[in-house]
Amino acid sequence: MRTLRLVVRAPDPDDDAVVEAARVLRDEGLVAFPTETVYGLGARADRSLAVRKIFAAKGRPAKNPLIVHFGDVDRALDFVGAQNKTARLLAERFWPGPLTLVVPRPAQGIADEVVAGGASVAVRVPAHPVAQALLRAVALPIAAPSANRSTQISSTNAEHVLKSLAGRIDICLDGGQTGLGLESTIVDTRHAPAVLLRLGAIPRAALEALVELVDASANIADPAQIAVAPGGQLRHYAPRATLLVVPEEALRDTVSSLQRRGLQVGVMRSAEDDGAGEPLVEHLGADAATYASRLYAALHRLDDRGVDAIVVAEPPPDPAWDALRDRLRRASA
Ligand code: TXA
Ligand code: MG
Repeated sequence: MRTLRLVVRAPDPDDDAVVEAARVLRDEGLVAFPTETVYGLGARADRSLAVRKIFAAKGRPAKNPLIVHFGDVDRALDFVGAQNKTARLLAERFWPGPLTLVVPRPAQGIADEVVAGGASVAVRVPAHPVAQALLRAVALPIAAPSANRSTQISSTNAEHVLKSLAGRIDICLDGGQTGLGLESTIVDTRHAPAVLLRLGAIPRAALEALVELVDASANIADPAQIAVAPGGQLRHYAPRATLLVVPEEALRDTVSSLQRRGLQVGVMRSAEDDGAGEPLVEHLGADAATYASRLYAALHRLDDRGVDAIVVAEPPPDPAWDALRDRLRRASA
């Protein structure tokens, strides 16, 4: 299969690239597209044949369910249903945006493969203008995991997508760099309190201002009621190189000792003035938002340089860094 890279000129449903991508989706093809978090790999969610292509292209285990994306908040709310107060509160506040809500699976309209045979479905309305344009043009629910091979680093630009999936998908809709850089926050709204399944761009405190939340790992009465935490397999979001997360004060010594063993070492630092003289240093920024927006691109670049190991300082204990700490932990597992 030849993968077409189509650059979006204006993020409207009648942009040539968007029209073509929507046509391919309707015809059950695979289209990667930017969202405000990371690039997604889309297929129509109502057709088994289309959804199976996603699993094949990514090498994704069939038991790992997919998020269904809508362009329109009202259509997504039809899925949520009128009874689910928790989901409605969160949706009203955060959609369109980087929040995924797990709700009971509706009787019709979603292929079994999307939900991996389960009784729930994950739904989100992305805010990115290109995602919005595409989803509105196609006017169908679109299943979309992150646009990368299974367990590898998510994609924050079209180059990342093509590096991982060229020849395996029909179109990569190029809308430039994504803004947030970390995947959406996922909340299972079928339980009271609701269950935080994945940390993401939305701070936990912002969710807790509206609804009561517990962690997926929390010891609640009936653990069987809880969906398997996303990315159940631990190593995820991972570069090819070994990633080491160490205390700030141990960073320099860790790097030297790896280099003494003859290893090629990349370093990720926050502040611009650190790491002067280190050959393979990536500066991610001192605040959590900037750091998140640059993290995956830095991991991709260091992998491209062929380093054996990547050393990064532990993020600060502040809650603003929770999602980043989670991703670094998984990537280094
Ligand atoms: O920001 C994002 O969420 C991106 C963009 C493209 O929307 N998507 C994304 O998809 O990160 P993916 O497949 O890489 O991660 C979605 C996670 C998976 O770990 C999956 O297990 C979980 O969501 N998930 C999907 N459906 C679920 C469900 N019904 N119940 C519990 N977890 C679910
Ligand atoms: Mg993913």
